[in-house]
Parts: sequence; C-alpha cells; structure tokens
Amino acid sequence: QPLKFVTLLGSLRKGSYNAMIARTLPKLAPEGITIEALPSIGDIPLYDADVQQESGFPASIEKIAEQIRQADGVIIVTPEYNYSVPGGLKNAIDWLSRLADQPLAGKPVLIQTSSMGAIGGARCQYHLRQILVFLDAMVMNKPEFMGGVIQSKVDSQLGEVIEQATLDHLAGQLSAFSDYTRRVKK
Ligand code: FNR
Repeated sequence: QPLKFVTLLGSLRKGSYNAMIARTLPKLAPEGITIEALPSIGDIPLYDADVQQESGFPASIEKIAEQIRQADGVIIVTPEYNYSVPGGLKNAIDWLSRLADQPLAGKPVLIQTSSMGAIGGARCQYHLRQILVFLDAMVMNKPEFMGGVIQSKVDSQLGEVIEQATLDHLAGQLSAFSDYTRRVKK
C-alpha cells in the first residue's frame, strides 16, 4: 500500500544541515513511499490567543494542517536549540494544537534531529516527544536518528547527506517508519 509522508523542518536558515537531511529523504524512501516538504514555518506569527480569537488561524497554519491531514505520517527534521526544541518549531506546534480538527492527533510521527554537536540533538528529541504526548501523536520509538557532527556527513554544495553510514541509517529508519505507519494508521 503506497504511503505519503510530509517533512516538517525546524530550522529556517538557508544553509541548514537539517534541511539537507529533509532534502535527502525522498531518494532513500522505500518503493511506494513519497515524501514531500511542508511549507516553511518561518512566516507563522507568534501564537497569541487573542489573535486566534479575533482573526482565526494564520493561512500558513491552515495550509500546513491540511497537508498533515492528507499525509499518512509526519517526519519532523530539526536541530536542537539550547538542549530543547527550537522556538519556531514549538510555535508552529502550539498553533496546530489549537485547531478543532487537530491534525497530529493519532498521526504517525518520526523524529529526526541533527546538530553540529556529538550527540545530534538527543536532548531535543525527548522534549519533542513530551510535547507530542499532549497532541496525542503516534511517535515511533525506534530506530532513532540523532545525526551528530552532521557537518561532516553532508556535501554543503550539493545540499545533501553523502556519508554512507548515515544514508543507510536513514533508509533503514524510513523503512521501519513505513511498516510502523501501516500498523498504527487509523
Ligand atoms: C545551537 N546549537 C546546538 N547544538 C546542539 O547540539 N545542542 C544545542 O543545545 C544547541 N543549541 C543551539 C542554540 C541555538 C540558538 C543555535 C543557533 C544553535 C548548534 C546547532 O547544532 C547548529 O547551529 C546546527 O547547525 C543547527 O541546525 P541547522 O540550522 O544547520 O539545521
């Protein structure tokens, strides 16, 4: 059965290593799996309940939510900021969480963190998992991906991952996430 996944990117900068991971994923997807990027989270205003009440949800959030609803699973690809989830990503999740038809409820989610540090954003993963408990997302436990010293595993000109062990790990994880999604999907 074919599946569609969407990637939610936690970094906004042009040269982002996490963006390179997200860009590499479609090439590593198993047969029948398509992977598409969600729109950038960079244009989303800071969450404000008054704004939500007066003007509703930003168009960017409605669009991301609809694409998540249409997808079979979501792959969150993000750096770690100060041992936690980048503010921009948390802001996007905060907006999504207030939608009546909250799109992450029951949705299979895969977390991928990468950083220039040795442990690849491991601390962010557990904060993100905690947040996703409240959203009732179905986060896959294992295999994990924590891309440490990620700058040494990409070709920045090409804008993609090139290190073979990392490519193999990502491909294996995508295959496991496909099986997991077929198992838990509503
Ligand atoms: C970082 N960085 C970082 N790295 C890490 O391993 N643990 C951390 O807690 C942090 N904290 C942190 C905070 C802030 C505000 C910035 C800007 C950076 C470094 C981070 O891994 C590095 O900048 C990555 O390159 C960010 O990912 P992208 O933008 O390349 O995808």
